[in-house]
Amino acid sequence: MDEALASLAAVEQPALLEETKARYLGKSGLLTERLKALGKLPPAERPAAGAEINRVKVALEAAVQAQRERIAARQMEGQLQAQALDVTLPGRGAGTGGLHPVTRTLQRIQALFHSLGFDVADGPEIETDAYNFTALNIPENHPARAMHDTFYLDPTHVLRTHTSPMQVRYLEAHPPPVKVIVPGRVYRCDSDMTHTPMFHQVEGLWIDPAATFSSLKGVLIDFMRRFFEQDELKARFRPSFFPFTEPSAEMDIGCVICHGEGCRVCSHTGWLEVLGCGMVHPNVLTPLGIDSEAHVGFAFGLGVERLAMLRYGVNDLRLFFENDIRFLKQFR
Ligand code: FA5
Ligand code: MG
Repeated sequence: MDEALASLAAVEQPALLEETKARYLGKSGLLTERLKALGKLPPAERPAAGAEINRVKVALEAAVQAQRERIAARQMEGQLQAQALDVTLPGRGAGTGGLHPVTRTLQRIQALFHSLGFDVADGPEIETDAYNFTALNIPENHPARAMHDTFYLDPTHVLRTHTSPMQVRYLEAHPPPVKVIVPGRVYRCDSDMTHTPMFHQVEGLWIDPAATFSSLKGVLIDFMRRFFEQDELKARFRPSFFPFTEPSAEMDIGCVICHGEGCRVCSHTGWLEVLGCGMVHPNVLTPLGIDSEAHVGFAFGLGVERLAMLRYGVNDLRLFFENDIRFLKQFR
């Protein structure tokens, strides 16, 4: 029995333990053999021998169980040690995130217009063809519809191609005077270095006796100079056409990538188109029940990514949407 106990205590592996157990207690184990041999003993010796065998059996079974528990405890301990966490170690530098450069630019634009007294509104990205075009004096079959490479969802719904439909929606809900900007995503079937299928615009609308064409120029030049922190920033207004403004203009600012020398971004012109603008057309106001003799005002729509590119010196618009972490990290 001592020998059996010793060999049980020496076993470290669960499988070996069961094997050792079988050697003594199994069907043809040593102890079982002795039990079978009981019948051959003289009857007088049987009870004592039987009791002794039972005593040993109980002791061995207890030893097996104890050894099982010891092995399990040792395994658990090893596992705990291997997976130990040192909660006092400093963290592995969970990197702080940063705002996307387009988000930063949007926030900057909003803050600047807010300081000029503009409210901020929000509108739907899925728009009806009626708001996106018709209400803006772009009737069906008007060639101006072709200027916007429109994503149609069904014959009457589009992904808005500009934020201008919000001029109409905002005026429906707010009688003049109004002074508001509307930032948001817009979509066009368009893709190259300076065009992406989704981009952001900020619409501006100021209907008020003070909102003359000269204050339009004043507001936008002031905005651009503050946005780029350049008091001398060059800007120019080119006559243009939008069905919903009259007169209409496009504003260019000096290319800050090549400083006017000519580069791929400005198509070697030294200028970059940043927005469209003009005096709100009577054909937009009249259907809304607004007397266009009594109410004048201007609207503009600027490209947010264009401003972000110029401010950060990025020469390919598509970089903003590829989500390359090495690019984005630079704006933290
Ligand atoms: C418009 O979208 C007019 N709704 C702007 C407007 C509003 C005029 C109010 C008058 C009154 P345009 O298509 O030119 O105009 O776009 C305005 C600006 O959005 C452009 O100057 C340019 O900066 C930017 N933009 C246009 N297309 C893209 C594009 N595919 N990717 C990135 N930016 C673009
Ligand atoms: Mg244009």
